[in-house]
Amino acid sequence: MSKIKPSKGAPYARILGVGGYRPIRVVPNEVILEKIDSSDEWIRSRSGIETRHWANDEETVAAMSIEASGKAIADAGISAEQIGGVIVSTVSHFSQTPAVATEIADKLGTAKAAAFDISAGCAGFGYGLTLAKGMIVEGSAQYVLVIGVERLSDLTDLEDRATAFLFGDGAGAVVVGPSEEPHIGPTVWGSEGDKAGTIKQTVPWNEYRIGDLDKLPLDSEGNVKFPAITQEGQAVFRWAVFEMAKVAQQALDAAGIIPDDLDVFIPHQANERIIDSMVKTLKLPEHVTVARDVRTTGNTSAASIPLAMERLLATGEAKSGDTALVIGFGAGLAYAATVVTLP
Ligand SMILES: CC(C)(COP(=O)(O)OP(=O)(O)OC[C@H]1O[C@@H](n2cnc3c(N)ncnc32)[C@H](O)[C@@H]1OP(=O)(O)O)[C@@H](O)C(=O)NCCC(=O)NCCS
Repeated sequence: MSKIKPSKGAPYARILGVGGYRPIRVVPNEVILEKIDSSDEWIRSRSGIETRHWANDEETVAAMSIEASGKAIADAGISAEQIGGVIVSTVSHFSQTPAVATEIADKLGTAKAAAFDISAGCAGFGYGLTLAKGMIVEGSAQYVLVIGVERLSDLTDLEDRATAFLFGDGAGAVVVGPSEEPHIGPTVWGSEGDKAGTIKQTVPWNEYRIGDLDKLPLDSEGNVKFPAITQEGQAVFRWAVFEMAKVAQQALDAAGIIPDDLDVFIPHQANERIIDSMVKTLKLPEHVTVARDVRTTGNTSAASIPLAMERLLATGEAKSGDTALVIGFGAGLAYAATVVTLP
């Protein structure tokens, strides 16, 4: 027989507050066209993107996260000292160690919160949310901050037609806390590592140390390029359209919800055509508000869902207490979908 006492957590968890930070600089498609042969019309019609935000030197991963988190904490009506866990999902923090979450936890004024980073690409917010829920129900934290943050402009090859127009920077955060009722449904998640090559970094960091110029990407003037995110656009598009609608449906089923019960749909803001296709396949009724933040924020990977959530609530397109389906998908190819009550 085990001698260990069971841990005591809350019966359920819920999102209590949300906050977002978008960098000051707004970048229209015209700027992207300086480096690639394309057009504003092509970018809008193929992706829905009109503008995105690019961070300046001061808008670091930590700085953007702290801004978004401060808003989420205020929105939740708690104090930073009550936060027992900080989870940061990002692929664009360039210091391998320590986790940026520890710096954020400290600067926010948490009381030595457990803090760590996760790497799950555009599925990162759902992965973080699921971990946070587990921590609260298990009793290892009462309140957990989940942050999705990216500076993808640092990892974008502006000469690559397939990706130059897609990515943006920003941070979104939510506070997850205890609840007497289930306000975060079961997560349907997974990964398809056999397709991992369809979204990846052009060259791994160790190749730069080795310095073999034959293996490093060069720009049009022959200078060594920083690594960037590259993708097989059509393969990713097909996977997202066919496979992710099924995952979204599974998340609805797992929560015991039918599309008619939904108020809001917040898919990862990858591409508006993917969003349209999912809405159609899932047969979402007219009354469901669909997040289309990609138009002015671009694809901000792990930050995209909380940023879109924050904007829908701020503009009044969605309201507190609404039932929302969220689904993230991307590099890995990893995915996570769940139904939540909006804060
Ligand atoms: C990137 C994406 C918008 C490209 O659209 P697409 O329709 O698949 O484009 P294709 O690569 O098939 O190219 C179609 C045509 O457009 C051209 N094209 C490609 N990129 C272009 C650009 N930036 N501007 C203008 N034309 C472009 C191609 O040369 C091709 O021309 P052709 O028909 O004369 O050969 C699309 O594949 C996509 O959205 N994929 C998913 C991306 C995504 O969401 N990734 C993140 C997941 S987390």
